[in-house]
Amino acid sequence: MLPQELPVSPGEWPRSVGPLTLSLPDPAGIDAVLRWRNDPSVTQWLIQTRVDPESLKQEWLSSLTIPSQHVVIARLGDEVVASGSLWIVDGMGQVHGDPEAYSNREAGIDYLVDPRFRGRGFASLIAQTMLGLAFDELHLRRVAAGCFADNLASRRILEKSGMRLEQYGVRDSWHADHGWLDGCTYAMLAEEWASPQA
Ligand SMILES: CC(C)(COP(=O)(O)OP(=O)(O)OC[C@H]1O[C@@H](n2cnc3c(N)ncnc32)[C@H](O)[C@@H]1OP(=O)(O)O)[C@@H](O)C(=O)NCCC(=O)NCCS
Repeated sequence: MLPQELPVSPGEWPRSVGPLTLSLPDPAGIDAVLRWRNDPSVTQWLIQTRVDPESLKQEWLSSLTIPSQHVVIARLGDEVVASGSLWIVDGMGQVHGDPEAYSNREAGIDYLVDPRFRGRGFASLIAQTMLGLAFDELHLRRVAAGCFADNLASRRILEKSGMRLEQYGVRDSWHADHGWLDGCTYAMLAEEWASPQA
């Protein structure tokens, strides 16, 4: 199947979002994220818990040249306080007909905030930015985000961003410490996205 043409790192970076400056990943920024990325309070509700620092560095720097992978690093002044990721996937369904219809048409998003900077709306700003990137700049048709149902802060961010709770899975999500837990999927379609710039 022919992948849809996608721009690498679309738009102008860095850009200001509220008090944050969002930029594409750079070695110093990734090193700063790694200072808190493997903190238990960060990994508690993540699917990918501890990450190998070198692997994360390679993965995020590679995203600069891989059109389906997008990572942003958020700074408050000189301090790296958060990150956001967006990864493009095929839409679910039949793999027949026009590949342009379903190939590389959707994205998943997530966000991480330095525990010292939680509760200041930074993840909400990043979620909005990733939705804008997906719909306004990459022209995707759907964005989805999954989380453990007990990750109440993340659920609130997704609800506030306007995404819809589309799936609530009863004990469908494995957690290494807590066993089978409930999981949620939130999503939004392009036509439901009301861009703040619109
Ligand atoms: C989840 C996380 C991203 C939140 O970041 P944050 O910058 O504090 O989020 P925000 O300040 O933008 O918004 C959090 C919202 O959740 C609410 N919230 C926080 N804890 C809550 C709780 N225990 N129960 C209900 N709501 C809660 C806050 O009040 C806020 O909502 P409000 O703006 O309506 O008041 C951050 O804690 C984190 O990085 N966690 C570890 C990684 C993670 O779980 N990422 C998500 C993967 S799905």
